[in-house]
Amino acid sequence: MRKFAISVAALGAVAALALAGCSSNNNTGNTTATTGGSTPAASATTTSGGGASGDTISLPAFPAGSTVGVSLPQKTSENWVLAGQLFTDQLTAAGFKPMVNYANGGVTDQQNQIQAMITAGAKVLVIGAIDGSQLGSQLQAAKDAGISVIAYDRLLTNTPNIDMYMAYDNYKVGQLQGQALLDGLKAKEGASPWNIELIAGSNDDSNSKPFFEGAMSVLQPKIDDGTLKILSGQKTQSQAATQGWQAQNAQTRMDAILAANYTGGTKLNGILSPNDTLARAALTSVKNAGLPNPVITGQDSEVASIPLIADGTQYSTINKDTGKFVTQVVSVLKDISAGKPVTVNDTKSYNNGNKIVPSFLLAPVLVTQANVCTAYDPTTSPSASAAALATDYCKTHK
Ligand code: BGC
Repeated sequence: MRKFAISVAALGAVAALALAGCSSNNNTGNTTATTGGSTPAASATTTSGGGASGDTISLPAFPAGSTVGVSLPQKTSENWVLAGQLFTDQLTAAGFKPMVNYANGGVTDQQNQIQAMITAGAKVLVIGAIDGSQLGSQLQAAKDAGISVIAYDRLLTNTPNIDMYMAYDNYKVGQLQGQALLDGLKAKEGASPWNIELIAGSNDDSNSKPFFEGAMSVLQPKIDDGTLKILSGQKTQSQAATQGWQAQNAQTRMDAILAANYTGGTKLNGILSPNDTLARAALTSVKNAGLPNPVITGQDSEVASIPLIADGTQYSTINKDTGKFVTQVVSVLKDISAGKPVTVNDTKSYNNGNKIVPSFLLAPVLVTQANVCTAYDPTTSPSASAAALATDYCKTHK
């Protein structure tokens, strides 16, 4: 079991200790990692999905043609924009009635939208929470109405009323990012020590912790031995956090860090960025400061970042194919509807502060210039694939 398993502040230290010693390799039904990143550190702890698993859960069957509620957060990155459209299309094609909402107005908006889905008679709720700890009453109401709840991408915390979690393996994402940053520094920045700065996601998103902790599992030993230096001194997740995943917040923070620490020829060699939107914001800040382009990580394979990967401006991103993800969720919904057992591939890692949530994890894939031309499946990720193939780099390197 990964050490990040307790990602909920409310969970006590005793429970954390009890869980911290487990090994993911002991998970019943786990498959070995098959992701593209394949660093030793990453593969040792990965429990990525898609493999044959002996574990199943059973949820109440519901009639074909029922309403399915899909509650998504704000469109803070391209993956959420894609997910909404794909859910609408694929649920319709599967014969369900989709009710897909974005909570553009924030947490209260999301609470109201979920309540409206319950009132409308939804049989299942698929929820990508803005703040997974703020939906307790709505999830209780869902439970009381016999509605099954699937947490999508982000875990729902501090509630017993969640049946399943489906996501790309968040801790593995962080590990891949940390390792990519190190690999990029070695390849591009000469001899160590290297100056780096850290960016974390929004504190209200339950994914921000596993992303950060996964990355720090790789970077911390190199900070401790002096290979990496953080001149701002901002080393913790809360110091590095980006409220609301907003690009402007990351850029403003980076502007201040650069002005205070990277003048007079001091070079910033690398930046840990948790996603592509924030990576591009940080690159803008670096450029405005007149500093050389650093090694920088990302996530989501956003169309705007793919040419930057291809030309080496952004060192890495992560492919979490939204098409494959939504297809997997819809296939689970079909199984539930038909009264079939649902496969899970991780029954130990995701403790939401109330219980361990049966999970189906998909495998994230690291993308750098080395594989950008071949990383994207044109059938499930057409825009990313097209963006990669349209670059001069892929025209000449395919
Ligand atoms: C998702 C990331 C995304 C971020 C900001 C996270 O919960 O897992 O893919 O970049 O939210 O939208």
